[in-house]
This record gives sequence, C-alpha cells and structure tokens, in this order.
Amino acid sequence: MDASTERATRIRQHYNGLAPRYDNMISTTERLLIPEGRAWVGSQASGDVLEIAVGTGRNFEHYPDSVAVTGIDLSPEMVEIARGHARRLGREVSLVVGDVERMPFRDATFDTAVSTLSLCTVPHPERALREVWRVLRPGGRFVALEHVRSPNPVVRLAQRVLNPLSLRYGCDNLLREPLDFLEPAGLEVEFVARSKLGLIEQVVARKPAR
Ligand SMILES: C[S@@+](CC[C@H](N)C(=O)[O-])C[C@H]1O[C@@H](n2cnc3c(N)ncnc32)[C@H](O)[C@@H]1O
Repeated sequence: MDASTERATRIRQHYNGLAPRYDNMISTTERLLIPEGRAWVGSQASGDVLEIAVGTGRNFEHYPDSVAVTGIDLSPEMVEIARGHARRLGREVSLVVGDVERMPFRDATFDTAVSTLSLCTVPHPERALREVWRVLRPGGRFVALEHVRSPNPVVRLAQRVLNPLSLRYGCDNLLREPLDFLEPAGLEVEFVARSKLGLIEQVVARKPAR
C-alpha cells in the first residue's frame, strides 16, 4: 500500500468509527465557532452543487430547494448517516463513497462546489482543489467554511503545539490555510472573511469563465 492509500485508509477508519457520534460531538463546537456558518454556505449555493467530504450531511438543511446536491466522502458510515439526514429532510441528494482527490465525475459538471470543515482532513488539499477546478463549470464557484491556521501569533503557537496530537488522534490538521491552494489550482479568490481570532475562514473562489 503506498503512503497516500495508507493515509486515506486511516482517515476512512477514523471517520467510520466516529460516525455515530459525529453529530453530537460537533454541534457544541459549531454553536461556538460557526453559529451562522452553514446557513451562509447554503445561501451561496446555486445550480448543481457538489459537496466534497460531505460527512453526515450537516449542510443539507441549509441549501435552497432550487439546488441539486451531490455529496462525496471517503467514509461509508458517514455517508450512511448523510443518507438518513437527507431522507428525514425529504431532500433528494446523490451520495457517493469516494476520494475527493480522484472524483468519479465528468469535467465541468457542477455550478458550485462546497467544502465545510474538510480541507483540514483531506490528505492533499492541493489535489482535491485541482479536482474541484476540473468538475466545476467555467464561471462556477467554490464556497468554503474551514478552520484554518490563525494569523494571530498566540493562537497559531497553540495550534502548532496541539497539531501533532490533533493529527494523530483526530486526523485533523490545525495549520492548513485554503488560500495557499486555491490560486495554484486555478481558482480566483473573490471573497475572504475571518472570524474567531482568525480560526474560522469563509472563502468564495471562482473558476474563470472561458
Ligand atoms: C471533519 S469531517 C467534516 C464533514 C462535513 N464536511 C461537515 O461539515 O461536517 C471531515 C470529513 O472529510 C472526509 N474526508 C477526508 N478525506 C477525504 C477524501 N480524501 N475524500 C473524501 N472525503 C474525505 C472524512 O471522511 C470526513 O467525513
């Protein structure tokens, strides 16, 4: 098994184990750090929407009825819970178990790609964002809500100290910054907002129209 497959396997196992507890576990953090974040993401989505690393589908209730949602995630257990969420909401969502670094979608399929609290976990965000570029239609938008490396030196120092533990036990990199990967992937940044001491970042980027 090469190093990349090994990391993906570890992440899948981690989230398969966490899946039954994920919603409970994250809801308090969400209330503190991103109280309006998921609603903001939903408000930015239009047309054919792809949610990368969709997890348990916590954004589903925030999408307008007018959009068609597809979600992809490595963990079959997270996807199963997402299926249940969609069913309870009476929302038709197409869900795929797969790797966002090699997505099984044709070029230029989606109008919006969404990522929430995901780029911290995906092993190679640069590969995932190149894939996002590929599957977006020209003029399509990437909308992200992520916890990131803080520009505040005190917070960043704490993140550096905690990161080895977070990576080992949570498969969660505290030092990622999506802006490092967007322009190299061909996505033009249109909007950035930071909050909560720079821990939380909202980003909108666009695949240039031809
Ligand atoms: C912290 S959870 C976030 C879930 C969801 N986006 C949310 O907002 O609650 C991270 C998710 O990323 C998924 N993931 C990590 N690496 C992935 C990859 N390479 N391809 C697909 N999903 C991946 C995990 O399985 C997990 O469901």
